[in-house]
Amino acid sequence: MGTGYVGLVTALAFCHHGHRVTCVDIIPERVDSVSRGKAPFYEPDVAEALARHLGSGLLDATTDTAKAVASTEITFLCVGTPSSADGSYDLGHLGAAARSMGEAIAGLDRHHLVVTKSTVTPTANRSVVLPAITNASGKEAPAGFSLASNPEFLREGSALADALAPDRIVLGIMEGDQAARDLLEGLYAPFDRPLLVTSLEGAELIKLASNSLLAIKVAFANEVANLASSVDADGYQVLEGVGLDHRLGPHFLRAGAGFGGSCFPRGLRALVAFSRSQGAPALLPTAALDQNEVQPAVMVDLVRKALDGNLQGKRVALLGLAFKPDTDDVRETRALPIYKLLLEEGATVVCHDPRAGSNFVELVREEGLAHPDVREGLDEVLREANAAVIQTEWEEYRLLGPAELVSEMAPPRAIVDARRTFDPYMMRAAGVTYWGVGLPPP
Ligand code: UDX
Repeated sequence: MGTGYVGLVTALAFCHHGHRVTCVDIIPERVDSVSRGKAPFYEPDVAEALARHLGSGLLDATTDTAKAVASTEITFLCVGTPSSADGSYDLGHLGAAARSMGEAIAGLDRHHLVVTKSTVTPTANRSVVLPAITNASGKEAPAGFSLASNPEFLREGSALADALAPDRIVLGIMEGDQAARDLLEGLYAPFDRPLLVTSLEGAELIKLASNSLLAIKVAFANEVANLASSVDADGYQVLEGVGLDHRLGPHFLRAGAGFGGSCFPRGLRALVAFSRSQGAPALLPTAALDQNEVQPAVMVDLVRKALDGNLQGKRVALLGLAFKPDTDDVRETRALPIYKLLLEEGATVVCHDPRAGSNFVELVREEGLAHPDVREGLDEVLREANAAVIQTEWEEYRLLGPAELVSEMAPPRAIVDARRTFDPYMMRAAGVTYWGVGLPPP
């Protein structure tokens, strides 16, 4: 249930291993789109896999929950859990999905297993999903139906590859529900990945803690890189040195403009709200969120310094609007605060992204700001710009040579690389006024 990133990609991963999957969504246009082989979002490899599995007959899509439940053994709940005002996950869609599951299960004469993949904070399954299914079905778990938690760890941009080869598969199983455990272990056997079986709440907390620790790592890397740039050290080299310690590892230490996306900021806020509900102070997730708010301003400081201390009347190219490369997703993108700060300081901002331009226009509109100047052509954006900020490390940008990058720009032709897309030493050797996150000034 749910044909967003998690739902559709999970479906394709199961099809890959020969399982038959019916995608259910309450939005008819989405079902129609999936049935016609059109993914509702851009994600590498998804369109091809969708065409393949529709063609082989392993995948279909419907709005009819009861029909889908009647012809399957397991339902994965993959509906969105947006943030509430206090940062906690809004479980409205999940509760509604669980109720419709309960109604579908009520008339079944077979056992059905319901598995929550949607990201939630601990106890959501036991306190929201379970009672919703129980009340609507008139049946009790685990005798009448089963409920399990199976969080998803896929990343946008490599979603299908991640879903096919996750580092681990986490199964939260209710006490004594051996049938649910056996069914899920069998389902995942062809994936041949490490499997961890926990309580419902254990699985819920693993997802939240994993995302939060990754985000905290990024925030810490940003602080270290900022420090390095204030002395004669290259923050990227420093973090490489840190990451070479096998106890720390090299991953998620890429300093930049901060983290965005649908998981990290929301997950940290949800962890803060959940911790406080338990009387815990949530010091680390709060600090990571604070650091992430500061980091776009640190990048704008670099632009100001590169433009002699004043952005008034300057033309700035903003390259990369998506929250990361290989996606058209702009949720919580750091491009938005950078864009706003540049405008506030009087700059004219011209934007570019290979995929996310129209989504960024919509995001800016939702903020109540004037229509942003988003151009299709990279050359148009760079032409006459005094500075260019690289906010998303798209491969398309990485392939640009120093001359292509700056030849049409206007003095001082400064490049502010918020993601270290380019090799700074190569850029500086080629005469480019190159400023980068974690680097001392040129
Ligand atoms: C994340 C988790 O990685 C994934 O396990 C979970 O299921 C969903 O949330 P995603 O948000 O798709 O995935 O992207 P990810 O690659 O983790 O990056 C998140 C943000 O952190 C991006 O804005 C990215 O630019 C930033 N980031 C990541 C850094 O700034 N530095 C890094 O070293 C890594």
